[in-house]
Amino acid sequence: MALVEIRNLRKVFPLGESMFGGGAKGEVTAVDDVSFDIERGETLGLVGESGSGKSTLGRLVLRLIEPSSGSIRFDGRDLLALSGKEMRHLRRDMQIIFQDPFGSLDPRMRVEDVIAEPLVIHERMNRATRRSRVAELLRAVGLDESARQRFPHEFSGGQRQRVGIARALALRPKFIVADEPVSALDVSVGAQIVNLLADLQREFALTYLFISHSMPVVRYLATRIAVMYRGKLVELGNAEQITTEPKHPYTRGLLEAIPEIAV
Ligand SMILES: Nc1ncnc2c1ncn2[C@@H]1O[C@H](COP(=O)(O)OP(=O)(O)OP(=O)(O)O)[C@@H](O)[C@H]1O
Ligand SMILES: [Mg+2]
Repeated sequence: MALVEIRNLRKVFPLGESMFGGGAKGEVTAVDDVSFDIERGETLGLVGESGSGKSTLGRLVLRLIEPSSGSIRFDGRDLLALSGKEMRHLRRDMQIIFQDPFGSLDPRMRVEDVIAEPLVIHERMNRATRRSRVAELLRAVGLDESARQRFPHEFSGGQRQRVGIARALALRPKFIVADEPVSALDVSVGAQIVNLLADLQREFALTYLFISHSMPVVRYLATRIAVMYRGKLVELGNAEQITTEPKHPYTRGLLEAIPEIAV
């Protein structure tokens, strides 16, 4: 059984007032009838141009937003049938990493509080245990112990992303959605983060949905690659096959548009 199984997933967003007046409203189908599995221990890369629905799909898979229709199974359970309480419990197993890990966090929080917050919310543990878990997590992501007392703005982008990853790992999840985690970073720093994610995957037996608009980055990490275009899944196959013999013209376009970058 795959870790994640999504079937016929759709998400329709209402559009606001038309900016040309007339009050015409419409809707946008951000994710349109998408089905796939994510196998345990694999990295499924998700690529597509801006607005193709990648982030919406990533959030649907975690049930951070509700689908308009379709089904999601995680670890054999029907996610949409779970109660709020069951869902909160399951959240420990599924985490998300963003492009800007501090975008949604209080800038006055110290790194140790940022990393420990999920532990405070989800796990009963005393301060000493929590401190040692934070130290373990800092080590796992390659940050110095002294980082714990510092504030996010004191860090470089790459270091901030390491903190974001440590926070995502705090509850020992099985599955991580990484939504453009290196898109805001220089190529060389991004490559270090991609390598870190690969190391952590081996160490903690993680499964990833890795979202990026960059084919070279996805190709480096992914076992299989899914290509989205205007909300639809247009191609899905193993990474080698997608990058050397793309079937869909849109995938070929994506490959041609991107210069070779050594990751
Ligand atoms: N909360 C929302 N309300 C209305 N429309 C939305 C919402 N979220 C996304 N959309 C629309 O859904 C479509 C897909 O957006 P989404 O953010 O999933 O794309 P994306 O592939 O992640 O793009 P990017 O590469 O720029 O991050 C877009 O047309 C977007 O405007
Ligand atoms: Mg996005």
